[in-house]
Amino acid sequence: MDALAQAFTLHKLYEASDAGALLAEVGPRIRGIAGSHVDSRLMEKLPRLEIIANFGVGYDTVDVGAARARGIKVTNTPNVLDDAVAEITIGMMIALARRIPAADRFVREGKWPGGNFPLQRELTGRTVGIFGLGRIGKEIARRAQAMKMRVVYSGRHEQKREPYRYYADLEAMAREADWLVAIAPGGKATEKIISRRVLEALGPEGFFVNMGRGSLVDEPAMVEMLQSGGLGGAALDVFADEPNVPPALLALDNVVLSPHQGSGTNETRDLMGQLLVDNLKAHFAGEPLLSQVA
Ligand code: NAP
Ligand code: 8YV
Repeated sequence: MDALAQAFTLHKLYEASDAGALLAEVGPRIRGIAGSHVDSRLMEKLPRLEIIANFGVGYDTVDVGAARARGIKVTNTPNVLDDAVAEITIGMMIALARRIPAADRFVREGKWPGGNFPLQRELTGRTVGIFGLGRIGKEIARRAQAMKMRVVYSGRHEQKREPYRYYADLEAMAREADWLVAIAPGGKATEKIISRRVLEALGPEGFFVNMGRGSLVDEPAMVEMLQSGGLGGAALDVFADEPNVPPALLALDNVVLSPHQGSGTNETRDLMGQLLVDNLKAHFAGEPLLSQVA
């Protein structure tokens, strides 16, 4: 925010008590947006808008089609968050496999003297299927290998230079895998692509990890299967209607919940912010953008 304020005149829509009044007042002067959640209705109120600098690598909350149609550029924040997201993905997996949140509660609630905590499973030797072997997916794969896991992946394309087995069919991969990690973009093309059938293929012994977007999974089916035992467990950083989480999940011990904090470290958020500001500066200086998606 400091770097933005030094370079530009800021109007904070998120702080406005009357967003409509603020837009009516300053909308005609706005040339850039820093943030996310930009739909065509907002763009229509900003006749001089030239660029949307999305805070995040995933830009599914920006109507890129509407931006393109008006010649508005869109940038995102790739690469700088890969390590942070990969790191917490492995953390979530261990937390789920070893039931770390439940074990912590067990000790705090004074249950240990009454008997030992139940034995759990390890990651070692298991197969993890990564849905979306992109920048972050590759970092997760490297770390999963360090955990002595076997890595396979699915996506639209086979990546021949990668050493992992490719599955064109996500359901087939889920059938072979012990873990399914989703780290693909949200949006129409991937909506509910992790369907009930895919989760059934993963099965009662299978673990699902969603670090991508809540929209990737059929969330009601997932919740029902976690309750019934049709799916072994889930570690979830993202949700369909976040920050609202399906209440049924709160009661389940075979679930680890996280408040969309994949990139949420000081180091990474600084880098994301700097990249966002640098894209805006480059645009207004007439220089090439650093990470343009439209
Ligand atoms: P990326 O490098 O573009 O990788 C995305 C991967 O998903 C690619 O391997 C791509 O492979 C696959 N993919 C894309 N569209 C697909 C489709 N329609 N069907 C199947 N696979 C598809 O992106 P990234 O930087 O790794 O980020 C991935 C996503 O992670 C972001 O878009 C965001 O949603 C999420 N994310 C979450 C957090 C968090 O805090 N939880 C933080 C950062 C990012 P193919 O082209 O072969 O299909
Ligand atoms: C969020 C993310 O954008 O980069 C992404 O796609 O999901 C995260 O980094 C970040 O939490 C800001 O909301």
